[in-house]
Amino acid sequence: MIGISGMSGMAAMAPKKATGYTGAEMRAKTVDTVMGVGVSKWELDTPALCVDLDKLDQNLKTMKAKLASTGVATRPHAKTHKCPAIAKLQLASGAIGICTAKVSEAEALFVGGIDKILMTTSNVTANKIRRAMKIRKANKNFIQAVDYAPNARDLNDAAKEAGIVADVVIDVAVGTRSGVPAGEQALALAQLVDKLPNLKLRGMISYDGGAQHIKGFKTRAERSLKNYEPSVQTFEMMKKSGLNTEIFSGGGTGTYNIMTRVPGFTDLQVGSYIFMDAQYLEIGGESNEELYTDFVPSLTVMTTVLNTYFPGRLTTDAGAKALTLNKPDAIVIGEKGFSYNAGSDEFGSIRYEMATKTYTVGDTLELIVPHCDPAVNEYDQIYGTRKDKVEVVWPIAARGHSQ
Ligand SMILES: Cc1ncc(COP(=O)(O)O)c(C=O)c1O
Repeated sequence: MIGISGMSGMAAMAPKKATGYTGAEMRAKTVDTVMGVGVSKWELDTPALCVDLDKLDQNLKTMKAKLASTGVATRPHAKTHKCPAIAKLQLASGAIGICTAKVSEAEALFVGGIDKILMTTSNVTANKIRRAMKIRKANKNFIQAVDYAPNARDLNDAAKEAGIVADVVIDVAVGTRSGVPAGEQALALAQLVDKLPNLKLRGMISYDGGAQHIKGFKTRAERSLKNYEPSVQTFEMMKKSGLNTEIFSGGGTGTYNIMTRVPGFTDLQVGSYIFMDAQYLEIGGESNEELYTDFVPSLTVMTTVLNTYFPGRLTTDAGAKALTLNKPDAIVIGEKGFSYNAGSDEFGSIRYEMATKTYTVGDTLELIVPHCDPAVNEYDQIYGTRKDKVEVVWPIAARGHSQ
């Protein structure tokens, strides 16, 4: 069972001020933060971001069980949920730490009670480096990525100024998005970090973003292992040179059961597995080529039907600001032939030929989002539900934290 640590409903009972809202309500980012517990998810004001706690729990257990005999751990990526409460559940389920993409996410998670943080993006500007050092000074379990020699020197200088030795991993590129090219250049950077007195080399990270959504398990496995060969060679080179290689981290939801075959690999930075989304459902898995069923979709958005005048059409209140413009389209749970267009800022537009019922204004629909990470970033809080009833409301502490 998932532990419950959310907002209490007590604030709602506090005396109301002249505005009609309690002090706690006024301080909360949105008024409904304190109004969700105990109600059915079908009665929430919409659009509402919900997570089914039993399904979330199932995803945690599945990941743990699938990795149990592999010797590979998880260091889940919090860029997906941006929520300290969910990070705590992942750690309680055996994760060895949490990843963040941005320094502001790392700050929010640390303030939210998470200390084992690996920041997978490098900080290259003076102020962000200072922010990272401030976290490291307060938290000895903070590690950050570096992929550029001048940046390593800047980190070293900032660590010296802060009076600390900062922990660093080398980000080794797979493709061309980020990271130092694998091989000699990566080794040289690792050797430099090892020599800099105010940095401590902890190993390397190497993430293949392009591999995660390759359709078909066999193709995905073949291509991702092939793409990863230079990273594996780099790891071997670092090891042979006597460098610290205690961390060899990477992988995601699409390759979680493929990266376990990589020699020396220590941990998976899986993000989406906890929620799933329409993008991941369609990649196919090892046991089901059509649908990725390893993890269950726990994340949904509740939306209200606003307009039913036009035949074969429905308008809802969940558009781009509720679901983002990511593709594929959102999936309407319980309806097979609905096509959902979230192209309008405030409205969703559904087209259909057949429906299971006649919809009326005010009806509620439940959607699987196109892509979980950016969708979560649109909400202040997530309603944790069990058997459709809201059990907990978790603030999404790092939402909008894109710095
Ligand atoms: C560096 C890094 N690691 C891990 C992940 C997690 O990937 P997924 O959500 O596919 O599990 C991401 C996602 O974009 C990422 O950028």
